[in-house]
Amino acid sequence: MRKILIIGIGAGDPDHMTVQAIDALNRTDVIFIPDKGAEKAGLSRRRLDICARFINGRTPRFVSFNTPAREKDPADYKSTVADWHAAIAAIHERLFAEELSEAQTGAFLVWGDPALYDSTLRIVANIHAKGAVRFDYEIIPGISSVQALAAKHRIALNRIGESVLITTGRKLAEGFPDGADSVVVLLDGEAAFDSIEAGDIEIYWGANIGTPQEALASGHLAEAKAEIKAARERVRREAGFVMDAYLLRRREPPL
Ligand SMILES: C[S@@+](CC[C@H](N)C(=O)[O-])C[C@H]1O[C@@H](n2cnc3c(N)ncnc32)[C@H](O)[C@@H]1O
Repeated sequence: MRKILIIGIGAGDPDHMTVQAIDALNRTDVIFIPDKGAEKAGLSRRRLDICARFINGRTPRFVSFNTPAREKDPADYKSTVADWHAAIAAIHERLFAEELSEAQTGAFLVWGDPALYDSTLRIVANIHAKGAVRFDYEIIPGISSVQALAAKHRIALNRIGESVLITTGRKLAEGFPDGADSVVVLLDGEAAFDSIEAGDIEIYWGANIGTPQEALASGHLAEAKAEIKAARERVRREAGFVMDAYLLRRREPPL
C-alpha cells in the first residue's frame, strides 16, 4: 500500500533533525515540496538543503506543487481556512494517485513539529478518511519553534505547577488571555505584542531561530518592544522572511 510520511524537520537548524526523521527521509521514494511563492522560497531551499545533507542512499524524486494562497483577513476566518484546506487536499490527493505507485512512500517535510500549527496532518487525515486513494500514513515528530525558543533563552516554558497557553498573534491582539500565566505566541505577522497593555509583562522573543539570521531579545515588554520591532525588520531584510515566536508572562512577584 502507498505510504505517506509526515516528517518534522525542526524549526530552522538542520541539527534539529532527529535520527527518526533521518531514517524516514531515507526510506522515501518521493518528496513533495510545496511552492508557496517568492517569500517562502527560503523555506523550500532549507528543505532541499536538509535532503542534500541527510539522504545518503538512493535519491528520492522531488515533486514540487503549487499551493493556493489563502485570502488575507477574511470576514469568516474558520470557513475560509476550511475552503483553503479543501483546495489543498484536492491537490494532495491527486499527487498521491499520480506520483506514487501502490508500493511507494511519499513524504512531506514539515517545519518544526507536525502537531503544532501546521495543516498537513489534518489534510492528510481527511484524505485518508475519504478513502478515494488508499494509503497508510505515519507522523515523525520534530523539534518545534517553541522548544527551540525556550532552549535559546535557557528558560522553562511553565512556572512551577502552572499552565502554558500556546496561541496566535491574531488571538493575542484581543488582549493578554484572562487567567493565563505563560503564553507562547506563534504566527504573529503584525507584532501583536505591541498592541497589548504591557503592564508588568516580560517577553522572551526569537526570530528565525536556528538559522544564520537568528535574533533574540528579552526583557520587560514595555522596554524591549522597540528593539524587537527593529530586529524583526532587520531579520526580514537579511533573510527575505521572518518567523518569530515569543513567550509572555507577568513578572513574578517578589517573595
Ligand atoms: C505555521 S507555524 C508552524 C509551527 C511549526 N510547526 C513548529 O513546530 O514550530 C509557523 C510559525 O512558527 C513559528 N516559527 C517557526 N519556525 C521558527 C523559527 N525558526 N524561529 C521563530 N519562530 C518560528 C513562527 O511563529 C511562525 O509564524
